[in-house]
Amino acid sequence: MTGGTLQMARAAAAGAGGEAGVAVSLLRAAEAGAEDVLKADGYIFATPENLAGMSGMMKDFFDRTYYAAFERINGRAFLTLVCAGSDGRNAAQQIDRIAAGWRLKPIADPYIVCTHAQTPEQILKPKMIEAVFLARCEELGKTMASGLAMGIF
Ligand SMILES: Cc1cc2nc3c(=O)[nH]c(=O)nc-3n(C[C@H](O)[C@H](O)[C@H](O)COP(=O)(O)O)c2cc1C
Repeated sequence: MTGGTLQMARAAAAGAGGEAGVAVSLLRAAEAGAEDVLKADGYIFATPENLAGMSGMMKDFFDRTYYAAFERINGRAFLTLVCAGSDGRNAAQQIDRIAAGWRLKPIADPYIVCTHAQTPEQILKPKMIEAVFLARCEELGKTMASGLAMGIF
């Protein structure tokens, strides 16, 4: 809603995109469907934490794709990025549980960036994620892509 997750996702995609032989699709949850899930070798799920969970759009994505992909993507790699005001753990845990159902393998712990937005004004303001956190997202994207390219994941 306020751009933080988007910046994290773009940074991860940029990091992954630098790897030769790896094609990256950066999709909004609303645009992504089961065919995207089936054709990818690995996944980076990026969501804000809203009301102690993943965003409604992200939940909708999993609702639409879960059974279409069930038992067809076992063992693929995934990573979760969460943009949160002050917590983020519930959103990460929800995605972990879905990924466990899909038998995906985490390539790293969920990466949570807190924007320290607490008041309504801060929460509704556009977010600027600090360069150091975006650099970590980029690095994680690169790790995903190089691991896939080398056949490690
Ligand atoms: C309706 C709403 C509920 C929120 N609930 C939480 C929450 O439960 N935990 C938390 O850490 N942050 C919460 N936040 C703060 C957001 O995670 C934070 O503003 C974050 O930057 C949103 O990501 P975005 O910039 O990609 O929209 C909430 C924000 C909104 C708008």
